[in-house]
Amino acid sequence: MQASLSAALSRVAGEVAAALEDLLPPVEGAEGRLAEAMRYSTLGGGKRLRAFLAMESAALFSVDRRCAARVGAAIEMLHAYSLVHDDLPAMDDDDLRRGRPSCHCAFDEATAILAGDALQTRAFEILAEPDTHSNPDARCELVVALAHAAGARGMVGGQMIDMLSEGQALTAEQITRLQALKTGRLIQFSTEAGAILGRAGMAQRHLLAAYGRDLGAAFQIADDLLDAVGTTEETGKTAGKDAAAGKATLVAALGVERARAQAEALADQASAQLESFGAKADLLRALANYVVARRS
Ligand code: IPE
Ligand code: IPE
Ligand code: MG
Ligand code: MG
Ligand code: MG
Repeated sequence: MQASLSAALSRVAGEVAAALEDLLPPVEGAEGRLAEAMRYSTLGGGKRLRAFLAMESAALFSVDRRCAARVGAAIEMLHAYSLVHDDLPAMDDDDLRRGRPSCHCAFDEATAILAGDALQTRAFEILAEPDTHSNPDARCELVVALAHAAGARGMVGGQMIDMLSEGQALTAEQITRLQALKTGRLIQFSTEAGAILGRAGMAQRHLLAAYGRDLGAAFQIADDLLDAVGTTEETGKTAGKDAAAGKATLVAALGVERARAQAEALADQASAQLESFGAKADLLRALANYVVARRS
């Protein structure tokens, strides 16, 4: 990884961890176990790529970093909720996440379901709070855009197709749509959120959305490749589970080499969307290279 990208990712990780610490509920009261599970699932791990995308997109428009970090933290909460539920026995039934026991293993299934629910609602609450942006129109746009990205026609819809597709022979086009919904939409929201915070014009917002869409597609193919050819030590997730569960992935449909070529082409396409931003977007372009070259 480029030194400048590595430094920028570490900086974002620190800012987001501080924001999460601040914005998550304290472990107290009769419901303290819920806050403990929310903290377990969001703090101490994760690449923070979605927060990075929101914060670096916002930086293109010189947005106050504390406001951008709140949005980054909200996205990481929503993402963590999706992972906690994705790991449940009723879904992917994964015991390992970020190199540690999954939330339902560290706690129990009921707590994991509730922690996911509460992470999701807290994410929307943060976006709607005045500290996130002084302009209520911007806050409302963030809420609507995240709801769209996360809901029935976004991440949750994609997860539904993912579950229904186990053991089915989907076409590459069907898999591409599944992945655009389950993963792409939230990554696209992350980049668009920067444009919303920066009150960017529609043209720039569309370019960032297009970058996020292509990057999200590349990102999920890379995740599927890591499941197939990576190790549990590298990813912190049990390797080889997709093939065992009969998941519909491009690795299964096209093979490792063609899937990798497609991920690389999508990452290049993502970078090309940012041409008009010039050198200001260098970190976002470097991230696109990293997303397909990563080992974790
Ligand atoms: C994992 O996302 C879930 C997918 C959408 C593939 P990440 O690989 O970004 O997970 P963390 O946040 O770094 O653990
Ligand atoms: C999950 O995709 C995407 C989500 C919306 C959580 P995966 O099921 O491939 O994610 P991992 O591999 O468990 O992180
Ligand atoms: Mg899954
Ligand atoms: Mg999974
Ligand atoms: Mg996976």
